[in-house]
Amino acid sequence: MDYDIADPSLAELGGRRIEWAGRRMPVLANIRERFEADQPLAGITIGACMHVTTETANLMTVLRAGGAAVTLCASNPLSTQDDVAAALVADGVPVYAVRGEDSETFYRHINAVLDTRPDLVFDDGCDMTTVLHEERADQPVIGGMEETTTGVIRLRAMENEGVLRFPVVAVNDSDTKHLFDNRHGTGQSSLDGILRSANVLFAGRTVVVGGYGDCGLGIANRADGLGAKVIVVESDPVRALSAAMDGHQVMTSHDAAPLGDVFITATGDIHVFRAEHFEAMKDSVILANAGHFDVELDLKALGEMAVGYRELRDNLGEYTLPDGRRILVVAEGRLVNLGAAEGHPADVMDMSFADQALAAEWLTVNGASLDAKVYVLPKELDDQVATLKLESMGCGLEQLTDEQVAYLNSWQHGT
Ligand code: NAI
Repeated sequence: MDYDIADPSLAELGGRRIEWAGRRMPVLANIRERFEADQPLAGITIGACMHVTTETANLMTVLRAGGAAVTLCASNPLSTQDDVAAALVADGVPVYAVRGEDSETFYRHINAVLDTRPDLVFDDGCDMTTVLHEERADQPVIGGMEETTTGVIRLRAMENEGVLRFPVVAVNDSDTKHLFDNRHGTGQSSLDGILRSANVLFAGRTVVVGGYGDCGLGIANRADGLGAKVIVVESDPVRALSAAMDGHQVMTSHDAAPLGDVFITATGDIHVFRAEHFEAMKDSVILANAGHFDVELDLKALGEMAVGYRELRDNLGEYTLPDGRRILVVAEGRLVNLGAAEGHPADVMDMSFADQALAAEWLTVNGASLDAKVYVLPKELDDQVATLKLESMGCGLEQLTDEQVAYLNSWQHGT
């Protein structure tokens, strides 16, 4: 078996961590049982470009249980957990991922996975799908799955330009994904990354959050819960208003720059904080990015402004400006929760990856009859995942009476 990982001897540690994550993924376990019995992915080859984490390892296991052959590479150079990669290889899954790999290796690994000629591709950020369009346009694919907002934005741009060549399920857009993973997962784990790298107290500090979409909302509300004063910078008027009514201060990036102690971006946009902001920031501010790509903080500009740079702590770089002020950057401006912590907890990835597994099954059944478009999974599947998760949490779900169903479906009743 061909693979490329950092250190096969880490397999035992990775195996234990994968087991612990698996214990907190009951919905995925439920799907696994059904997949083992029904073999819905029999004969299917899957190529996955995803964060190589304990939760992804559990998803790979479920896809294999369903009959698929899977190969995995990283969707971010800094998110790979080398022990997980080793455990998967020991379990017979070819993995091409090394934490800290350079851009050339990152794409060599994507191409190694695509050399297996996958029927289905799992992507997180659309890099593998882009290679399939730019460099491997003749390679047949039944369909794809996309995990994150930025990837879906790129796919919709491809669809709008008429270049998308196979159907893709925007798994991110399932309610059981983005309302929980993006909010609660990113909210908690982004702060976890800042805590592990800088170990600062949030209480009493001013935290500036760039973007108040699902991720930004989660980050802002968790920072608030830790006692921080939260400022939101948002370009969409409705979302900005929503932040204001959630109790946060809302202002422009220009006004927020001199006030913040910690800045966290989650926009999917470029250069949210840039030279003009760095000029205005206080000494020893901390910058972190939770958005998919490392473009939200203009680190090129910061590097050009700085007269010094050093690694202050693990995953914490320190730039010194000519006037002596220092600006700290977590995990090189890459996904803070995966670069400086372990990513989302398994409890929430349970739903995201249940959606992924169901999307693979749905595409295997329906792929041939679908157009080359971006699809969202049917609501029944969202409801199925939510119901299973509620059951696993011991929650009761109210059942409507026949009278209530009839009432809600009628229009004749008035005051
Ligand atoms: P979203 O679309 O729900 O929210 C983004 C928000 O940023 C929008 O409200 C938009 O108006 C705002 N925005 C855009 N440009 C801005 C700017 N220059 N200044 C201020 N606000 C701006 O997207 P979502 O789901 O919150 O995702 C955000 C990013 O996080 C994406 O890149 C996504 O792929 C990534 N992501 C990261 C995860 C992680 O594990 N770190 C998990 C899920 C998503």
